[in-house]
Amino acid sequence: MSFVPVITIDGPSASGKGTVAQRVAAALGFHYLDSGALYRLTALAAERRGLRWRDELEVAQLAGDLDVVFDGAAVLLEGDNVTEAIRSETVGIGASIVAALPAVRSALLARQHAFAEVPGLVADGRDMGSVVFPDARLKVFLTASAEARAERRCKQLSAAGEQPDLAAITADLESRDERDRSRAVAPLQQWPDALLLDTTNMGIDEAVEQVLRWWKDVLSA
Ligand code: CDP
Ligand code: CDP
Repeated sequence: MSFVPVITIDGPSASGKGTVAQRVAAALGFHYLDSGALYRLTALAAERRGLRWRDELEVAQLAGDLDVVFDGAAVLLEGDNVTEAIRSETVGIGASIVAALPAVRSALLARQHAFAEVPGLVADGRDMGSVVFPDARLKVFLTASAEARAERRCKQLSAAGEQPDLAAITADLESRDERDRSRAVAPLQQWPDALLLDTTNMGIDEAVEQVLRWWKDVLSA
């Protein structure tokens, strides 16, 4: 695994990780791992089985056995297209609850490592640079103010035909971020060897260009 170049992009909810990581992966012809989708899939699968999100052993077993197919932008769970279902705010909250369980995180580790294939990987999440790919050649911590992130999430939901409430979205983001930051295992934090990219006042193009510049620097070092 270590000879495959990996770029990690970690950060809080709605900071732009997924958008930037996918654009960087496309520019470099690399594979892309949306690790948050695995926690979302675990939460959704648990809900569908009638399990409680905090039932560590049962949920971990489910996470290890997940029947998932990533087919381009589509995600299939046991053959069912759940691309939209895993994006709901409720599933996001469930994801952050199951993600705090150590056995669930261990159960998903091998599945994440399997994404590191030639010619390279861009992985986004919370612990990509700290736990899953500690040897990554480039580690980025992407962030933005809570206000900017809540507004982005609202815009995203409006574009999907929903009528989001800014105050409720802000509260959800803050409580999820707090759970992600304060958990004992693989908490969300800027790792010492990660480069900080604050996109509060930065568009997507500029953020992608910055990551690609850093990657060029890594290659020429
Ligand atoms: O993956 P993550 O939750 O960190 O964020 P995302 O889903 O990539 O981005 C959330 C929304 O913010 C998307 O609609 C992006 O287009 C938007 N965004 C933005 O407006 N400006 C940025 N610099 C980054 C993302
Ligand atoms: O799109 P957004 O940034 O809101 O969330 P996501 O990346 O889809 O992740 C959903 C939840 O999964 C997060 O709130 C984290 O609790 C958890 N997660 C994690 O613990 N570790 C990761 N590497 C990725 C996600």
